[in-house]
Amino acid sequence: MSQDVVKIITPEGQTAELPVIRSEMGPPTFDIKTLNKQTGYFTYDSGFAATGSCTSDITFIDGGKGVLLYRGYPIEQLAEQSNFMEVTYLLMNGELPNQSQSNAFNDEITRHTMVHEKIHAFMKGFQYDAHPMAMMMSAIGSLAAFYHNHMDMNNPEDRRLAAIRLIAKMPTVAATVYKNYIGQPFMYPKNSLNFTERLLHMMYGVPAEPYEINPVAAKALDLLFILHADHEQNASTSTVRLVGSTGANPFACISAGIASLWGPAHGGANEAVLNMLDEIGDVSQIDKYIAKAKDKNDPFRLMGFGHRVYKNFDPRATIIRKACHDVLGELGVQDPQLELAMRLEEIALKDEYFVARNLYPNVDFYSGIIYKALGIPVQMFTVMFAIARTVGWTSQWLEQYETPDTRIGRPRQVYRGAKTRDFVPLNKR
Ligand code: ACO
Repeated sequence: MSQDVVKIITPEGQTAELPVIRSEMGPPTFDIKTLNKQTGYFTYDSGFAATGSCTSDITFIDGGKGVLLYRGYPIEQLAEQSNFMEVTYLLMNGELPNQSQSNAFNDEITRHTMVHEKIHAFMKGFQYDAHPMAMMMSAIGSLAAFYHNHMDMNNPEDRRLAAIRLIAKMPTVAATVYKNYIGQPFMYPKNSLNFTERLLHMMYGVPAEPYEINPVAAKALDLLFILHADHEQNASTSTVRLVGSTGANPFACISAGIASLWGPAHGGANEAVLNMLDEIGDVSQIDKYIAKAKDKNDPFRLMGFGHRVYKNFDPRATIIRKACHDVLGELGVQDPQLELAMRLEEIALKDEYFVARNLYPNVDFYSGIIYKALGIPVQMFTVMFAIARTVGWTSQWLEQYETPDTRIGRPRQVYRGAKTRDFVPLNKR
């Protein structure tokens, strides 16, 4: 990184010199930290369209070229050649593990998969039809109650252990949420299985009989988890960092991340896509729904389309689109919704409205169809996303603690309310 400066002149003639941060990859950035001190001005950027909130070494995106790198490695290579646990190690530690590091890491994750028995009692407090994301958010937040008093946030080893616990326990909590949702007994993690097999066993196994893991399903989940593991400073990761910047308990930070992920504009889109395909129902209805998506007076949006950063294509969507065909083929599933999704994609990609706005399918356009083929109910889709993204959230949370200029996140505002005025007593209003 080299530094030069940009000069700013305000309408009142005050000047400020702001350092320009130039990195090997990514656009040049003005460092505006001292702007207010130098000129009295703030900057305004609702939705953070042009604002970096932190420095990070973890994930790089070039939205114009459709590039996504985890620690420098292209997502296509990781999806093809790696596995979720290895990617987890990479995101957390910065390098791919060698064999003994990989064994030790897998072993450590495996040893933290159980949750306190009281979590089962906690789960039973929910109504049977509670949304799985509501249960997930609460259950992960409640883990803070078990891991708080003896945790020293200034101790790197305590922080690392919290990250390991979170990554390891997410599948157990997710499966418990699922079992509560469908009214079956909770299953304990089976440590002889790998990460995704263990999740499938806890979700679909029952105490009454042995459960045979379908390797196609375990592999498909592993791929989806790699693709969802991190995505730099998206809404939920920024939420985790903002909460983390206050020094809050890591389980509370991840619970906040889950809340942010739930929204249909973010991770909730995978659930929203399937609901949308259900609503469209048939190829003959596509034109009507495309027209609705283009109508500014209609709140309907084509879910799974568009992305703040990708303005050409989402490389994860390309991988997932292919995987979707492969997985459905291998599982022998014929899903009319896949046909519908493909036709919708084809029509939208040719439509002038979508072309002009660079609106392409994102990662969630196809992920729900795979989840559905694996027998996962629609309301669990975002929970699956949360399991994977916990790796990114915790890696970014760890990095934040290790970045020297980290301060509490405290955005400012442009105030547009009433000017100073005198209080009027009730009897005079
Ligand atoms: N359907 C129809 N029109 C759309 C869509 C869509 N899915 N997405 C964006 N547009 C239009 C907007 O109306 C706007 O049009 P205008 O310029 O005429 O006003 C233009 O495209 C730009 O859209 P913005 O909302 O300004 O883009 P922004 O970057 O703020 O939003 C977002 C990105 C939230 C992803 C948006 O495209 C969207 O709502 N998509 C559907 C939800 C979705 O799939 N979310 C998942 C994102 S990926 C993830 O989080 C894992």
